[in-house]
Amino acid sequence: MTVNPLSWADPDPVAPALRLVPDLPLPPDPLGADVLPPEASLDQEVLVRRVVPLTHDVVQVVLEPTRPGGVAFTPGQYLTLGVEVDGRHVERCYTISSPPTRPHLLSLTVKRVPDGEVSTYLHDRVRPGDRLQVTGPLGGFSVAEHPSRRYLLLSAGSGVTPTLATLRTMADLAELEATGSALDVVVVHSARTPDDLVARAEVEALAATHPGLRVHWVCETDGAPDRSGPWSGPRGRLTADLLRAFAPDVADREVFTCGPPGYMAAARLLLAEVGADPARCHEESFVLGTAGAPAAAAAAAAAAAQGAAEGAAPAASSRADAAGTEGEVEGHLLAAPAPSAPAPVATSVTFARSGCEVACPAGTTVLAAAEQAGVRLPSSCAEGMCGTCKSTLLSGRVEMKHAGGIRPREIAQDKFLPCCSTPDGDIVVDA
Ligand code: FES
Repeated sequence: MTVNPLSWADPDPVAPALRLVPDLPLPPDPLGADVLPPEASLDQEVLVRRVVPLTHDVVQVVLEPTRPGGVAFTPGQYLTLGVEVDGRHVERCYTISSPPTRPHLLSLTVKRVPDGEVSTYLHDRVRPGDRLQVTGPLGGFSVAEHPSRRYLLLSAGSGVTPTLATLRTMADLAELEATGSALDVVVVHSARTPDDLVARAEVEALAATHPGLRVHWVCETDGAPDRSGPWSGPRGRLTADLLRAFAPDVADREVFTCGPPGYMAAARLLLAEVGADPARCHEESFVLGTAGAPAAAAAAAAAAAQGAAEGAAPAASSRADAAGTEGEVEGHLLAAPAPSAPAPVATSVTFARSGCEVACPAGTTVLAAAEQAGVRLPSSCAEGMCGTCKSTLLSGRVEMKHAGGIRPREIAQDKFLPCCSTPDGDIVVDA
């Protein structure tokens, strides 16, 4: 899944509904107060503990932080994971599918992407004892930031991972018990076949033992005969009638939607049709594109592909409105695209900690300048959405065209996103 939660609205922060277990290392501001945890709070090596197959094309990678004390995050946040693939450093974003109530082991749920460099690496090559580099946690797509007693969690394909983290958190915190203050949560997940339902047994067991949780699966077609076989539940794609039946009180619910772009576009229309409150709808999407493809093309291809492949509803979107909370953001690697016809006027970009200075042709992003200078900046979406590349501007000005990957208060603290920023005169960057 993005740092830009693509919320339809950004309601005023209020006190959190979810409690935190007392021994979690807390960020400096209270949970739910519209904050991101401190940058690079988990910028460290992690140890691979287990790689567990979950479905025919999804594995769970269990990671142990190498620093003591556990990791603070909120359900729905993601990590940027860096691996060396054939001598190249490649980064992708993955949702933390384990709950923050279990801060000493982090789980990532990784779908194999055809030709995906990182997912293939995690499926085929990574072994217990290996070390990986992670940065985060990132993102604000979290029920903890939008307190409510009633939630509707919509997802498709790999978009189930924030839902998994959320349900595990709520169950661990006893927020789904049969008490007057319990949460009321409806989950609706769409998949291509029942073979593609990730953690189905676990989620159904939670629903069977927690009165506050109802779960509905929607599958396009049957599973393979040697796997799940025929599907007897709702078949096809999510419709307004199904949504009304699953959550007749949708207008009173905080709605979180996560899936590939085609699904997101369709879900937006469905939610409007059934009367969801736009101010209470939050969404996050992801792109499973092709390495090397331009971002917009990757997103468009992903939208079309995912519509068919991930049980998404129709109306695939062609806008690059997503970064990877789950799955890979292929094609959005370290380098931002260089301008096709650079203007002759160059500015100077100095990377203070690296001791490098490079001439930056007009229109060139700071991320591209960094790559040119041999300075490695973490990045993922390369479009100002995910926040992975967030850096500090020590002097000078930049023109930044971000897509929600940075918050106003961070900009006020001289943070910026190099992937979508061009220098406005000479600048010095803390990198
Ligand atoms: S790499 Fe995603 S915001 Fe810069």
